[in-house]
Amino acid sequence: MAWYKRQFEDEDPHRLSWYAESETSRHEVDFIVEHLGLDPGTRILDLCCGQGRHLVELIRRGYDVVGVDLSAYMLDHCNKALEAAGVHSCLVQSDMREINFYSEFDGVINMRTSFGYLESDEEDQKVLSTEPPSR
Ligand SMILES: C[S@@+](CC[C@H](N)C(=O)[O-])C[C@H]1O[C@@H](n2cnc3c(N)ncnc32)[C@H](O)[C@@H]1O
Repeated sequence: MAWYKRQFEDEDPHRLSWYAESETSRHEVDFIVEHLGLDPGTRILDLCCGQGRHLVELIRRGYDVVGVDLSAYMLDHCNKALEAAGVHSCLVQSDMREINFYSEFDGVINMRTSFGYLESDEEDQKVLSTEPPSR
């Protein structure tokens, strides 16, 4: 099994909660908002959303955010974070190379070492491709 599947089948719960509520996460969202330059209400894809520490904060700030992640465990934590914050989002379990979105979003984020660790540069390149995957 690829390491990035095994790695995120579970996580240290203490580390998850530390990141979720950290000041760092809020500063990262400040950076996202400033650099994407998008108005609240626009659509953002959080590719490899993990436990949703950016996704939840962006929704709080008025953005319409969809989260994609491969790990059911991380998506479960993301759902709990959404519930705790009293906000809603659509979460999709998918490999980042195989998403079925092409032009639905105004911006895409991929945060904290969620890129560049696939098996080869060619596999990483598939994530950046704007072409539909060949089936
Ligand atoms: C280091 S975590 C970062 C999570 C989140 N972006 C953050 O900043 O907190 C990497 C995330 O990428 C997800 N991931 C790993 N390989 C993936 C793949 N091939 N497709 C989609 N998600 C993947 C993991 O499940 C994990 O949630």
